[in-house]
Amino acid sequence: MTDKAKAKQQIEELRLDIGRHNRLYYVDAAPEITDREYDRLLQSLEELEKEFPELESLISPTQRVGGAPLDRFESVRHAVPMMSLSNTYSKEELVEFDRRIRKLIPAETFEYILEPKIDGVAISLRYENGELVRAVTRGDGTIGDNVTSNVRTIQSIPLRLSDMIPPAVLEVRGEIYMDTTGFAKLNEQRQDAGQESFANPRNACAGSLKLLDPREVAKRPLDAIFYATGQLNGISFETHEQMLISLKNYGLRITPNYWLSDGIEEILQRLDELENMRHQFPFEMDGGVIKVNERQLYEGLGFTAKSPRWAVAYKYEPEQAETTLHAISIQVGRTGVLTPVAELEPVQLAGTTVKRATLHNEDEIRRKDIKIGDRVMIEKAGEIIPAIVKVLAEKRTGTEMEFVMPVICPACGGETEKREGEVALRCINLQCPAQVKNWIAHYASRGAMDINGLGESLVVQLVDSGLVKNPAELYALKKVEVLGLERMGEKSGENLIKGIEESKQRPFEKVLFGLGIRHVGKGAAAILAHELKNIDALMVADVPQLETIRDIGPIVGKSVVEYFQTKETLAVINQLKAAGVNFKYTETGGNNGLEGLTFVLTGSLETMTRDEGGDKIRARGGKVSGSVSKNTSYLVAGESAGSKLIKAEGLGLTVLNEEQFIALLGSDEKMEDQKAGQLGFGF
Ligand code: IVH
Repeated sequence: MTDKAKAKQQIEELRLDIGRHNRLYYVDAAPEITDREYDRLLQSLEELEKEFPELESLISPTQRVGGAPLDRFESVRHAVPMMSLSNTYSKEELVEFDRRIRKLIPAETFEYILEPKIDGVAISLRYENGELVRAVTRGDGTIGDNVTSNVRTIQSIPLRLSDMIPPAVLEVRGEIYMDTTGFAKLNEQRQDAGQESFANPRNACAGSLKLLDPREVAKRPLDAIFYATGQLNGISFETHEQMLISLKNYGLRITPNYWLSDGIEEILQRLDELENMRHQFPFEMDGGVIKVNERQLYEGLGFTAKSPRWAVAYKYEPEQAETTLHAISIQVGRTGVLTPVAELEPVQLAGTTVKRATLHNEDEIRRKDIKIGDRVMIEKAGEIIPAIVKVLAEKRTGTEMEFVMPVICPACGGETEKREGEVALRCINLQCPAQVKNWIAHYASRGAMDINGLGESLVVQLVDSGLVKNPAELYALKKVEVLGLERMGEKSGENLIKGIEESKQRPFEKVLFGLGIRHVGKGAAAILAHELKNIDALMVADVPQLETIRDIGPIVGKSVVEYFQTKETLAVINQLKAAGVNFKYTETGGNNGLEGLTFVLTGSLETMTRDEGGDKIRARGGKVSGSVSKNTSYLVAGESAGSKLIKAEGLGLTVLNEEQFIALLGSDEKMEDQKAGQLGFGF
């Protein structure tokens, strides 16, 4: 065999292998190899393709994020129109739907299938001979946008179907969505960077798909689930369920749950069950879709103008509540961004009392025509942050007042600026007490330096009294000074000083996280500490050097370099060094007890948060993963554990309750019930 023929064979084998591992990881949540092994396979493939560029191909897993940014999306006509569904909020109408079907096809026996209705963006993928050739949005149902280069960046979408003899044409339709945790993180990053936040995961998803640069899309936490077909050539399915199973076998993700029944009554019951599971899905679920399972009946049932008669969507009422907007306060974040916050009449919503809601920025207040004193509807956006969805203008009395965004920082009276390309106002005074308070609270928080006894109210007092102007000055605090503070007894004063002293020994990655460098979260801090080993190496690193580190991109790189170029922060670092804070990485190798074990934490724990539990595992050399697979060593299940627990039990994994988990961590584990101080001071 020639070198080229050999390389061709090797390349094909590697592509198939990587495709299979991708599927095991993203679709089946049951990886067989480690991330490192996966990266090695990908690297071997890259090297071979570089050596034989003529063998490069778009179906290669190395080519997911490729090509130059587009000017605009090309319009494409759908081979089979993309219909939508008729919607209802009423169970009576579902009974009516059932009656109509039975009238149209009186002689047939059939079943219904119920699936969750995913609130994302509809997409149609076209596979020709098993290869992904096109991804098109719904558009007007007849013509959509060709967003192939963006959709290819979604790792769970196969570039090639896993069957060796795939059909000539397989068009699959489904929903692209942004997972709810990823959405919350993205908004946090955007807020820190002074960019506009997305109102909900669906908007974030739609906005991401409209980006013209696939490299940007690749950074967004997008995923997809498929539930229907378009054009088919060389394949057919008898039932909807059979189609779903085939899609899964091809390596496409399908709904994690569905129910079959031959009567509408049972479906009505299942709809309630599904609603109770609403918060367990990683996507926003806004209802259930009921479909006739037997596909050969579809023709007889036909279509109305826009939707098929064999399916209907039942939508759940959005979780909304009505309340009064009493005031709009301004929060100054750690990076100086001024965020308006709605102060509300407390109201119950989706199981919690809501007192505040985010307003994102001034533009949003104008867009929604929000006035102080208004009656407003609030909703949980992305299950997480409450937001004002609309103003009940008909309830206005004329006493409502226009809100004006301050031009100076309400915390320090200093200047603010709107940076180019940003929507947010930012306080530029690094000594601004609000920024300083947030910084110190973050530094002292559990995820960072974990300073016992240093909570939010104490931070406020320390800064307001002028005792502390940055985290380094904590180390110069004297007991007599502390004792002068409100509600500070002899014993708690001593404990605070002791807590501050003890924090000097925290691992370097915690210190680094505590410094509050923009875009450097816990994960990035751990990686930087591990790779650069000490602060001096980090301080002289440039962006290209930082970018060579796995999982460190240009945004983190630039932010780190900028941080260490600021005179004020350099002074603080020198002060921290002089105080004896640990700036050197300690290898955790050796025997910490949990090496080689992978944990998944779910539900709520009583003595710690899941994040803290994760820290303890990592500190002992173990790994923490977000999803349950057969490689999971232990599932730690707290109160109201849901789908992960069910999955773990299905896989026969060892499940630990909190007590057993603490026992496993070791007897030296001190129990504290105080939770980490929440960031965010309102003024
Ligand atoms: S079936 C011919 N199944 O909801 C109709 N649609 O409001 C094919 N959607 O247009 C659609 N989850 O974008 C179907 N399990 C599901 C769905 C679903 C979400 C979307 C889809 C549809 C819209 C209707």
